[in-house]
Amino acid sequence: MTAAALGTAEWYRHFGTVDAPGSSPCYANWSLHIANDPELIARIDRWPYNKRQPLLMLAAARLLGAKVSAYPEFRAFLDEHWAEVSRTVMSRATQTNEVGRCATLLPSLEAIAAAEARPLALIEVGASAGLALFPDRYSYEFDDGATVTRLDPGASAELHAGSGEVPEPPVLRCRTAGPVPLPDSLPSVEWRAGIDLNPLDVRNPDDVTWLEALIWPEQEFRRERLRRAIAVARQDPPLLVAGDLNEQLLSLAEQAPPDAALVVFHSAVMGYVSADGRARFRATIQSLARDRSCHWLSNEGETVIIQEDGSVVVPEMDPGRLRGNFLLLHNGQPVAITGPHGQSLDWL
Ligand SMILES: C[S@@+](CC[C@H](N)C(=O)[O-])C[C@H]1O[C@@H](n2cnc3c(N)ncnc32)[C@H](O)[C@@H]1O
Repeated sequence: MTAAALGTAEWYRHFGTVDAPGSSPCYANWSLHIANDPELIARIDRWPYNKRQPLLMLAAARLLGAKVSAYPEFRAFLDEHWAEVSRTVMSRATQTNEVGRCATLLPSLEAIAAAEARPLALIEVGASAGLALFPDRYSYEFDDGATVTRLDPGASAELHAGSGEVPEPPVLRCRTAGPVPLPDSLPSVEWRAGIDLNPLDVRNPDDVTWLEALIWPEQEFRRERLRRAIAVARQDPPLLVAGDLNEQLLSLAEQAPPDAALVVFHSAVMGYVSADGRARFRATIQSLARDRSCHWLSNEGETVIIQEDGSVVVPEMDPGRLRGNFLLLHNGQPVAITGPHGQSLDWL
């Protein structure tokens, strides 16, 4: 993460006060205790900077069997398993593949398909296991407080899903506010592909176990929808290219069918990319839009909106409104504030 090079204790305190409360009381509690535990912070500081990320350490401990508990028990677990925790932290990265984010992208994807009057070709950069590449194969419930709008994949998605039993899709639930252009149906996706530094494979049991460990302890509903999404993806695993998004995007885009409307999108990725890398990516998207025509959906958190030099990508946006949330931009224009796990969509 490039997030303004927080000190480690500060990073855990931020995670415990901004990111975790409301989603995981256990992680919030552990993180705040870790922030005040200089001996543990000194141990974490022996890892390279990008390995000190709270979620990575907590997920490694959970993978190794740490149970929801009071801090002293967790601390004892860490002492007992520190070598294995370190090994896991060094060999893995935070690659949470949050399928719930499809709900916040869906209205934009369907609006693009409708405006272009043709099916979509999707490229996700920073795709992890590629679960967000199947927005046409999941069910959705959008709730504006008065009405729940349900959308289900149609028969065409089942045909695409290949032979064998069609798995029950996850239901992605999302609270909406403002004039969200809710679609009547799911977009038609002709082609899908992703890029990741380290693509995870939905057919590999170790990768699947790690994806489950990345889900916060109390969020059983996220684990359940992850399992269902993995079952959907396993029927027809996506094309995933290993490499840097800046190196791979143009050659992958050349493989997209020319008759489809190309959409390049990303969620929770640019926080891992330097300011220079992000600037290069913006330039690549612009050249792609010029040469081939493409749409760009960016769904990223406040660390990306506020640049390393202190300037803000979207100057008119009040950063207080974004705290703990993501901003969705379509071709660089802000369209919505989104819940980081796809739980809410507040249209601007
Ligand atoms: C937090 S995960 C998010 C995954 C997925 N976008 C989602 O929303 O579920 C971030 C992913 O970005 C990938 N990533 C980070 N930097 C990258 C880069 N420069 N090029 C390609 N992938 C990158 C990581 O490997 C990781 O899988």
